[in-house]
Amino acid sequence: MRIVILSGAGLSAESGLGTFRDVGGIWQKYDLEDVATPEGYARDPALVHQFYNARRANCLQASPNAAHHALADLQQSGLAEVTLVTQNIDDLLERAGARDVVHMHGELRRALCASCGHRWDAPDTMSPDTACPACGATRARPDIVWFGEIPYHMDRIAEALEGADLFVAIGTSGAVYPAAGFVQEARAQGVRTLELNLDPSETSALFDDTRLGPATEIVPAWVAELRRARA
Ligand code: APR
Repeated sequence: MRIVILSGAGLSAESGLGTFRDVGGIWQKYDLEDVATPEGYARDPALVHQFYNARRANCLQASPNAAHHALADLQQSGLAEVTLVTQNIDDLLERAGARDVVHMHGELRRALCASCGHRWDAPDTMSPDTACPACGATRARPDIVWFGEIPYHMDRIAEALEGADLFVAIGTSGAVYPAAGFVQEARAQGVRTLELNLDPSETSALFDDTRLGPATEIVPAWVAELRRARA
């Protein structure tokens, strides 16, 4: 059995990392045009670094929760071939033991040179003075996919969806494309679809099944059910 799992900010919410669009979410505190677009970075790179430095610090303090562990355990169980695609830029799935996580919106722990394209492990704190270890330019940015940029690994994700038996979306509002369109791609190919979320998302109606509740409860429960069904 092949399962493709798409996760969003709701997966890491109970680890203390903020979501974007819920009440009190990150996009109510910051203007995304300022901190999550190439134009914002060109205008004020110091502000952009400050924003992501704070998020990197939160991430370093956070620990994977029961939902991250359940997904990593499922992947390692050999019960199914599991592709973990995430919109999250934290590394909590990896710290729970997951392998080969597909970070379609980039990663906080990586840096990218806007001058030569070199990528390297990001220091805990970045600034407009951070120099690229390859070319020396001081145009380092966090390796994050911003609004207006093309998400990473789209070919790999399309391939995984094509051969899947089940597509599961966890903790994502379905507001940001192309990720929000994966459920339609899956359906078009006859793949069963399941949504696990706190509240119904913008795309809930498109899923075959939806289960509502906090990720730390409903994700381990779903994984346990799958294990029983395939035992
Ligand atoms: N358990 C499960 N789901 C939760 C929980 C929880 N404890 N807490 C919140 N949620 C759900 C919310 O109901 C919402 O549907 O998680 C979803 C979070 O939605 P968003 O904040 O929009 O996050 P996400 O879907 O990951 O955003 C997509 O938008 O700004 C960009 O690049 C950013 O990757 C991000 C993308």
